[in-house]
Amino acid sequence: MSIQNKKSPPVVSKGQDIEIRVEGLAFGGNGFAKINNFMVFIERGLPGQLVQAYIYKKKSNYAEAYIKAVIEESPFYVPPQCPHFGLQGCGGCIWQNLNYTEQLKYKEAQVRECIQRIGGFRDFSVEPIIGSESIYFYRNKMEFSFGDRPWHLEKVENSENQPEMVLGLHVPGRFDRIMEITSCQLLSPLSNEILGFVRQFAESSGIKVWHNREHTGFWRHVVFREAKNSGQLMVNLVTSGESESLPVVKNLAQQLLTKFPQITTLVHNINRKISQVATGDEEIVLAGPGKIIEELGKFRFSISANSFFQTNTRQARILYDKVIEFADFQGHETVYDLYCGTGTIGIYLSPFVKRVIGFEIVPDAIRDARLNCELNQVQNCEFFEGDLKDLLIQNSQAKTALPAPDTLVIDPPRAGMHEKVVNEIIKLAPQKIVYVSCNPSTLARDLKLLCTTDYRLIKVQPIDLFPHTPHCEAVALLNHQ
Ligand SMILES: C[S@@+](CC[C@H](N)C(=O)[O-])C[C@H]1O[C@@H](n2cnc3c(N)ncnc32)[C@H](O)[C@@H]1O
Repeated sequence: MSIQNKKSPPVVSKGQDIEIRVEGLAFGGNGFAKINNFMVFIERGLPGQLVQAYIYKKKSNYAEAYIKAVIEESPFYVPPQCPHFGLQGCGGCIWQNLNYTEQLKYKEAQVRECIQRIGGFRDFSVEPIIGSESIYFYRNKMEFSFGDRPWHLEKVENSENQPEMVLGLHVPGRFDRIMEITSCQLLSPLSNEILGFVRQFAESSGIKVWHNREHTGFWRHVVFREAKNSGQLMVNLVTSGESESLPVVKNLAQQLLTKFPQITTLVHNINRKISQVATGDEEIVLAGPGKIIEELGKFRFSISANSFFQTNTRQARILYDKVIEFADFQGHETVYDLYCGTGTIGIYLSPFVKRVIGFEIVPDAIRDARLNCELNQVQNCEFFEGDLKDLLIQNSQAKTALPAPDTLVIDPPRAGMHEKVVNEIIKLAPQKIVYVSCNPSTLARDLKLLCTTDYRLIKVQPIDLFPHTPHCEAVALLNHQ
């Protein structure tokens, strides 16, 4: 059945095939089209595409559809480089087939729209988005997972011939399904080669992969961390704690080190938990220092298997430079670096200020932050461990409280800040707040809370760290009136 946009009444129903032209990109990156003002979200739809789509969900005010066939291609279409890209493919970079300039336009508009709609702001500026210099092989970290149920081999699904092992990326929304990846375009060609070697080794080992439902098996993940500036490379093999299988990892490590001398460190994380996360309860360093060093400007940062580091190194430097530019330091400032991770932002800006005080919940990250200070002979930074919603209150009640900040740099996780943290910040009343965010919705929500008091939102800078995905980083500047 063919439904032309705006002509026919909104008679879409679940299970229906429709012909529809994608009008634009919705929040989250899917396409949308309207039929007599009734919103239809089209998975992986590109603006301008005419598609045959299947309605798989229908609600009172919107429907969701997936594309069965593209009838007419989008004017913004570009050929994707990744062999795993496709409508049913890996969900890692859904916009590889969308011209990068269009991606950037969407991201900038998304940041502006969130701050206006969720934050209710009108009088502020959004600087033109800064795109990523590299749009392929830009990541410095990738986590691949083992699985026992390949996604792409529909033919053999549920049959007895189903392969027993797959190594790749999770299919979006499916914790138990892995898509075989042989040539990911995000990290490096070398990591693809190593991944293939590990796959072959694991297959011939005769040892089973971790089974997500039965919670048995051994092979769980392969994680790469590749420092783009220093060239150092970590391979992290994550397995279950199945004791009889553990020695085989040493054998694999030896073979990897012989075949790939570019590997500077090799670690083995043992995850004894049921949850399929690529971090271990125990870490064994099999070769090298167990860390890699990455360079950002004149600073060197030590990155261990499980610590946070911005995944696009080159863009991280641009992001941190923007923080310094927005903060406009004069040299006398005490700066709080909230959600400081391994201290990267605080250390990077330390030459421009009097003192940096960082706060972070992960103990290993705090340890790394202190080590990073030593590594760079930085003496004006200190770091405190704990949950920010408690730390700031404890500090305000302490007899010898830390000096109040002149400037606050905030870089929370996607969920944004806890309301208690926002309230404490308001009490601290720094002159300037520079908020770094990877989620424009929670950024807008938190900015709104801060600006119900004496703060004013001045400007926002979107920066793209994640080409081919709908994600966007943003830096916002708030001044105390
Ligand atoms: C987006 S990362 C920022 C890291 C760092 N600023 C950087 O650029 O590398 C967010 C950090 O917040 C930390 N975090 C999450 N929840 C927290 C909390 N409740 N209190 C303190 N830190 C928290 C995470 O461990 C993580 O290191």
